[in-house]
Amino acid sequence: KKGNYEHYMEKEIFEQPESLTTTMRGRLIRGGESKLKSVVLGGLKDHLRTMRRSRRIIFIGCGTSYNAALAARPIIEELSGVPVTMELASDLLDRQGPIYREDTAVFVSQSGETADTLQALEYANSHGALCVGITNTVGSAIARGTHCGVHINAGCEIGVASTKAYTSQIAVMTMLALALGDDSMSSRNRREEIVDGLFDLPNKVKEVLKLDKDMKELAKLLTEEQSLLIFGRGYNYATALEGALKVKEVALMHSEGILAGEMKHGPLALVDETLPIIVIATRDATFSKQQSVIQQLRARKGRLIVICTKGDAEAVCPYGVSRVIEVPRVEDCLQPVINIVPLQLLAYHLTVLRGYNVDQPRNLAKSVTTQ
Ligand code: UD1
Ligand code: BG6
Repeated sequence: KKGNYEHYMEKEIFEQPESLTTTMRGRLIRGGESKLKSVVLGGLKDHLRTMRRSRRIIFIGCGTSYNAALAARPIIEELSGVPVTMELASDLLDRQGPIYREDTAVFVSQSGETADTLQALEYANSHGALCVGITNTVGSAIARGTHCGVHINAGCEIGVASTKAYTSQIAVMTMLALALGDDSMSSRNRREEIVDGLFDLPNKVKEVLKLDKDMKELAKLLTEEQSLLIFGRGYNYATALEGALKVKEVALMHSEGILAGEMKHGPLALVDETLPIIVIATRDATFSKQQSVIQQLRARKGRLIVICTKGDAEAVCPYGVSRVIEVPRVEDCLQPVINIVPLQLLAYHLTVLRGYNVDQPRNLAKSVTTQ
């Protein structure tokens, strides 16, 4: 079933234009006449009022699913006005953190079977929260145990490292943000632009996949490295965490995703001429802050690789010293879907070049069903 691909991970990375299309099928409304551009999430329509009125939304997940929720957090807060907090399932359980009847707890899980997430669901349910599932697996324990939810419909994912499920999870949570915000007139233009952006997203992913050769070249340069740092912020803090997770889980290379706003509070001490650092600096409200992060890293002779918006090579790297990876621009909240693709490709090629098992990384399982 791998078709022309060597590995499932590679196949699933390249499948993303199609998996995103299936995720959104029947859920986006084009508008026209007097109709607004909007979304329909069949599984949530009777619960949106409760969610809008809840005192907070808590996202709960593990690994890549947690990162996907983190990527969607800003747009959910913006469009719903409800505070969003993030929980790694195991940490919520360790702390027995407070959860109330007025909370909405959203469980994000590709498999729908992860033990920690499932146990956190039982915990939130016993505290009376509205429990919502976002999962790829119809009939899974999380799909069955939640009050309502959305199937991401990304198709079966086989590679242990999650790729297409990640981008589909972000697409679904962005649609959730649109659905939560659709009682507000003031955000109407913003929402319509995002709907347009979602329609066009599969094409933009096709475009960014053309970076495959460049990422293979970059992987060749990095094959022997011990460590790789990835700096991001705003919508792309999650991209930094998820890119680093991919690199460590499959390429077995130490990698750390760092919130760029925290750079001066520790990570800057690591910067020298040898340690490779990827900086994500695509266009959004945080762009000028990322430009100054790049300047500061360059002042310490950091070995930089910058991911920027097409046409911005000069703006991010005026002296042409760093390597630049240019990606297509999409609506700011959808940019994480585009930006993760070159990092998925980099992790894939690094793994192959380093001679490790791509689809079954050492010591890891696709679905962790025991604690
Ligand atoms: C549903 C059908 C889909 C059909 C469409 C037509 C299913 C699984 N889906 O999709 O085949 O094409 O109607 O309108 O039959 N749910 C949870 N927890 C979760 C995920 C989902 O409780 O984690 C619940 C939802 O609240 C909903 C049901 O499962 O009641 C199906 O969810 P979903 O597949 O996302 O709904 P639709 O997109 O409407
Ligand atoms: C495992 C997988 O650790 O579980 C990861 O190797 C995944 O890729 C994590 O992100 C969470 O899985 P799920 O199915 O709950 O999304």
